[in-house]
Amino acid sequence: MPQRPALKRLIGRAQLRRRVGELAEEIARDYRDRQPLLVGTLKGSFVFLADLARRLPLPLEIDFIGAASYGQGRESSGQVHVYHEPRSELRGRHVVLVEDIVDTGLTLAELRRYLEAQGPASLRVCALLDKRARRLIEVPLHYVGFEIPDEFVVGYGLDFRQRYRNLPFIAVVKHEHLH
Ligand code: IMP
Ligand code: MG
Repeated sequence: MPQRPALKRLIGRAQLRRRVGELAEEIARDYRDRQPLLVGTLKGSFVFLADLARRLPLPLEIDFIGAASYGQGRESSGQVHVYHEPRSELRGRHVVLVEDIVDTGLTLAELRRYLEAQGPASLRVCALLDKRARRLIEVPLHYVGFEIPDEFVVGYGLDFRQRYRNLPFIAVVKHEHLH
């Protein structure tokens, strides 16, 4: 039997609900009179995107982009491969890229380059979690839910070996379980 990793709660449901509401208010204000296209990154952002979108009183559209970085374990290599492209025409659209977590920033930097190349009218990034201490490349984040310490987190869409995405809160996986 594989051992179950020990989890420690970091951000609870009520805190998530409150902060997502605040982000939605900010975005709704900035995009009033516009029809933004929210592009969620697969798979980690699906829960955040679902909650955020339902709190945005805007005529918005939703699409997804899937990117994988070739790397060793949890380390991102910076070589990002887009395995699922948005189906929507991005040219001329006000695109909001919705990310679960920004760690080194390498994935996001590539995604930005990829999306910018499609000629959107504007491109902003909304990230639920920011692991700022790990950043290797500076990338502009317009909306950030929480800055978190350099720990591996799961839940609310985020996984450890594809599990725990369905946890309704965010938890830290204890270090000894990550190897
Ligand atoms: P970056 O390119 O290093 O910024 O990596 C970003 C991607 O790594 C995220 O979109 C996640 O898929 C994954 N990631 C980074 N940190 C964590 C974490 O603490 N938990 C789960 N996934 C993570
Ligand atoms: Mg991600």
